[in-house]
Amino acid sequence: MSKTSQTTEDETKRTDQPLEVTAGETRERTQDEWTDYEFEGQAKFSVEDLDVYYGDDHALKGVSMEIPENSVTALIGPSGCGKSTFLRCLNRMNDRISAARIDGSVELDGEEIYQDGVNLVELRKRVGMVFQSPNPFPKSIRDNISYGPRKHGDLETGFLSSLLGRSDEEEVDELVERSLSQAALWDEVEDRLDDNALGLSGGQQQRLCIARALATDPEVILMDEPASALDPIATSKIEDLVHELSEDYTVVIVTHNMQQAARISDQTAVFLTGGELVEYGDTDQIFEDPESQRVEDYISGKFG
Ligand SMILES: Nc1ncnc2c1ncn2[C@@H]1O[C@H](COP(=O)(O)OP(=O)(O)OP(=O)(O)O)[C@@H](O)[C@H]1O
Ligand SMILES: [Mg+2]
Repeated sequence: MSKTSQTTEDETKRTDQPLEVTAGETRERTQDEWTDYEFEGQAKFSVEDLDVYYGDDHALKGVSMEIPENSVTALIGPSGCGKSTFLRCLNRMNDRISAARIDGSVELDGEEIYQDGVNLVELRKRVGMVFQSPNPFPKSIRDNISYGPRKHGDLETGFLSSLLGRSDEEEVDELVERSLSQAALWDEVEDRLDDNALGLSGGQQQRLCIARALATDPEVILMDEPASALDPIATSKIEDLVHELSEDYTVVIVTHNMQQAARISDQTAVFLTGGELVEYGDTDQIFEDPESQRVEDYISGKFG
């Protein structure tokens, strides 16, 4: 598994003259081997030479990396370095941003997702997403879970279906219990499934959003700082959950919290100012013995 070319001629020239890039950060040539992560098993995503522009702003620069399936990949780096932008490329959420232009290749299970004819609804069903702020629908807990599968036609519980004799509320009940249990929320809400989801605490709402993402039976779950608004107890529940999910799902998680990345991820990708992937590797190696001086400075809190 190897695919990376982070260094351009232009970059080489620039590295001859160390430059202050951001407070305390010095430009350093990124070497291919720092981002060339070898792992066993299958790649869920293969990203090659990915560039993202917002108008004239070049937000991600030639990022190449492979993300192993059934594991947790953490994306870390200072604010504005392109973590959310990268995450959104993995299920084409950036398509919704009119200023965004994407170049390069992203393959999911070996299939290019940036090609004509890709069904975006299907793609986002396979690659679900959980955002920074919990965003449950202003509906009951039950309806939050069943909304997606119903929309995708996986549940036949509408009026028409019941006329046709296909109503299956039991199927909904099963789905609701399974998804909420997977998200470690069932015990707290089983007696109030018809209450409005907005009445849950922030941490419960976030677990509901995870349950909602799981309900459509995805293969990948993208999480953009899912615990940043939560207290330590709620955070630790989300962390335990992420760890468990990686047995059956591929999880890619952005976090600002380095201890969190170190605790929950199998591999870590470090993005630094300018939208560059600087180093990618086994989480222990990244935190204990990074190759890049800039990464070491970032991790030890010298900047960022
Ligand atoms: N919708 C947008 N329109 C224009 N520019 C954007 C948009 N979204 C992000 N950017 C720019 O792209 C760059 C990367 O932003 P991004 O949100 O990916 O960073 P991030 O690493 O997730 O930061 P943070 O840690 O603060 O969430 C920034 O310069 C940002 O201003
Ligand atoms: Mg972000």
